[in-house]
Amino acid sequence: MSDIPQERRVLTAIPGPKSAELQARRVAAVAAGVGSTLPVFTARAGGGIIEDVDGNRLIDLGSGIAVTSVGASAEAVVRRASAQLADFTHTCFMVTPYEGYVEVCEQLAELTPGDHAKKSALFNSGAEAVENAVKIARAYTKRTAVVVFDHGYHGRTNLTMGMTAKNMPYKQGFGPFAPEVYRVPVAYGYRWPTGAENAGAEASAQAIDEITKQIGAENVAAIIIEPVLGEGGFIEPAKGFLPAIAQFAADNGIVFVADEIQSGFCRTGQWFACEDEGIVPDLITTAKGIAGGLPLSAVTGRAEIMDAAHAGGLGGTYGGNPVACAGALGAIETMRELDLNGKAKRIEEVMKGRLREMRSKLPNGDIIGDIRGRGAMIAIELVKPGTKEPDAAAAGALAKACHAEGVLVLTCGTYGNVLRFLPPLVIGEDLLNEGLDVIEQAFAQI
Ligand SMILES: Cc1ncc(COP(=O)(O)O)c(C=O)c1O
Repeated sequence: MSDIPQERRVLTAIPGPKSAELQARRVAAVAAGVGSTLPVFTARAGGGIIEDVDGNRLIDLGSGIAVTSVGASAEAVVRRASAQLADFTHTCFMVTPYEGYVEVCEQLAELTPGDHAKKSALFNSGAEAVENAVKIARAYTKRTAVVVFDHGYHGRTNLTMGMTAKNMPYKQGFGPFAPEVYRVPVAYGYRWPTGAENAGAEASAQAIDEITKQIGAENVAAIIIEPVLGEGGFIEPAKGFLPAIAQFAADNGIVFVADEIQSGFCRTGQWFACEDEGIVPDLITTAKGIAGGLPLSAVTGRAEIMDAAHAGGLGGTYGGNPVACAGALGAIETMRELDLNGKAKRIEEVMKGRLREMRSKLPNGDIIGDIRGRGAMIAIELVKPGTKEPDAAAAGALAKACHAEGVLVLTCGTYGNVLRFLPPLVIGEDLLNEGLDVIEQAFAQI
């Protein structure tokens, strides 16, 4: 890991003057459609700290959106990726292959749920993995329809925009979208009209009814769901929902795909979030946490499904780049060695404990409508007191107050009213608690 002191330090306004200068250059040179949560320019990062060009040290509760679970400069990632860089940067696996790619696929077969024969294909981004999961499922089933869920997020390419639920900012003005994508209800416990305790059974029954009546199960190639819905607001589908949908898929020859791009690789305290209810997906998409910050994604699944696409039908120039594969092997090594599943569980204990305390003791604590998530994927949903009316302004104000004090937090949610916490799993407990102190102070300011 880089030797950045694991201490918060606020030396200037945030963003500081050097960041402001870079931001002015950025505005002139970078397309406006690419946004940034906090225009603080990074100088170095590692452990639980991001150091900016003005020398400020921010506590990182975002991990670059659930990517740097092992930290942004993990020793094993840097060591293995640097060695690979010196050996060769690229050959294209589709031209002359290399061992790192195969080794990553072997690791994926070992780590993902189920002891059946598995194979993988590697890509660059999460969206690309999702697109390829759909291609593979269509090739295998010889069907076309794809079922996705309310509040789901799957990416920004044309197909994955169509699969994503939220219009603004992901889809607005970018259509038309790919056909044969159908959206059905998900068991959002906190907002389920008849209560969280009924959500699993009722939402799965509704979803299955819609699939059966409106699409026809025999036309469905794949059902794709995030076992914890990320951008939609860290929604854990109410218990019973995922098993019912997975069973329906199995009974109807539909490929069940778990999109674990945000929730995978120890983030929720298990290698994959679907393990929580014993789900064994046919295919699983991974990215983000897989490679310690290097761009890599994968589709992993039952060998007979993965082999359904003809030779040459899958791939891409950079997919499974050797440096990214070396990074992934370093990240996986780190996860095993440091027991990052155990660390994620401890983060959940600390964070939920503190957040519950804030809800009960702060004068405005009742704006925290829900505290949820698993492992180091924790969120609070903010509402107008005494109601469930989403309060996006409160989420924005809290995030802003945290940023000003050097704590990087992110928002999410269909209604923009969720504050989400995705600390690197290697964050020190003192630093995590200091981040929570700042969040607590932010409540006092809004
Ligand atoms: C569940 C899920 N699927 C897909 C994606 C898209 O990944 P990428 O941004 O790497 O294309 C994301 C990104 O946030 C995600 O959270």
